[in-house]
Amino acid sequence: MRLALVRRDFPALRRREGQRAPSYLDSACMSLVPRTTLDAMEEYYTEYPGCAGRSLHRWSEAVGRRYEEARETVARFAGAADPRSVVFQRNTTEAINLVGQGISWQRGDRVLISDQEHNSNLIVWQRLASERGIRIEVLDLPPDGSFPSDVLEARLARGVRLVSLFHTSNLDGRSLPVREIVERAHDRGSMCLFDGAQSAPHRAIEFDRIGVDFYAISGHKMLGPTGTGVLLGRPERLEELRPLLLGGETILWSRLDAHELRPPPHRFEAGLQNYAGILGARAGIEYLQRTGLSEIEARQRELNRFVTGALAGEPRVHVLGPSDPAERPSILGFTIDGVDPHDTALFLDAGYRVLVRSGMHCVHSWYDRRKIPGSVRASFYLYNDLADARALVRGLRELLAKVPGSAPAALRPKSMRAPARV
Ligand SMILES: Cc1ncc(COP(=O)(O)O)c(C=O)c1O
Repeated sequence: MRLALVRRDFPALRRREGQRAPSYLDSACMSLVPRTTLDAMEEYYTEYPGCAGRSLHRWSEAVGRRYEEARETVARFAGAADPRSVVFQRNTTEAINLVGQGISWQRGDRVLISDQEHNSNLIVWQRLASERGIRIEVLDLPPDGSFPSDVLEARLARGVRLVSLFHTSNLDGRSLPVREIVERAHDRGSMCLFDGAQSAPHRAIEFDRIGVDFYAISGHKMLGPTGTGVLLGRPERLEELRPLLLGGETILWSRLDAHELRPPPHRFEAGLQNYAGILGARAGIEYLQRTGLSEIEARQRELNRFVTGALAGEPRVHVLGPSDPAERPSILGFTIDGVDPHDTALFLDAGYRVLVRSGMHCVHSWYDRRKIPGSVRASFYLYNDLADARALVRGLRELLAKVPGSAPAALRPKSMRAPARV
């Protein structure tokens, strides 16, 4: 598709009050939505505002059909032949919790995570460790982006019930070799879950091909509305999970003293669902399919290479993760000697309308171990262009010139003091 024309499909990128359009470089947090996503949501409320699967009238039937079609769209997008692999959730966090709370744990079972997991793939295991006696094993990832296959193998050899890792890191943009990890895990009898929040928006998931047991994604990072997500699970694995929530939609029948659960995926979708959101998310996915993920990734690589190259001559700027932007196309994470990450974000917004993320990016544990107060993250998506990349570089150069050496603070007016953020 025509990436050059993509920007006009995203209403949030319009010019406001005669000013230049914002350079939105925070898509790793949430993406913007195209007009087609908004239209799909409005269509639900104006044309068939019904409850799927409950009433028998035409609106109910219309939304029920579209809801299941959305499941098929997600399955195709994810490379899953069986739409029953798709469980609609609110986000990646809920999807990971469903797996975590749903497995029948035995005391001493091990879960292997990395030292760079989002809180969504950490806190749930900590609670299970304290309440159910599971053990958390941590795989340290080298800073250069390489993957320690030998360490993984050694950990697996000691017996791991579940390997739960990010596919693409929200902190430095590196991706892990998922196929290799799944093969090694399955060879040792471990199950595998990937946190796909940062990978699904940019690269084909190939769920069946990689053979992973569970894969969690968020619709709002891939052109869908907020509060939409999916747990992909092998149907036989989903059968083994205990639902997190029970109630309407989850059962075939009930008496006062008993009930029978519906088969997956419906047993995991309790209560009236976010129909508008799911239909909007479907429209977002269709937009991505029309555009083509490889074209999107090529654009991101180009922009990331431009900014990385422009900053290479700045000795105070330290890029996180792999030095080659091709290995972290969607994300540029960095620290600046002597400048607080929140100051940087506020400066870029106020002076250049460049919107980036700053802080610990919900990976507090990683920063805590290294005693770093945080980092800045610019994340790229299909609607970003060279003007955005140039604005970021100009802003950073001005900032570096204004804050000499290692003197932080005093840059921002008091009214702009950043609240504590994550
Ligand atoms: C790697 C990663 N995992 C999990 C999440 C959580 O996603 P959500 O807030 O949509 O549940 C995020 C969000 O930024 C993320 O980047």
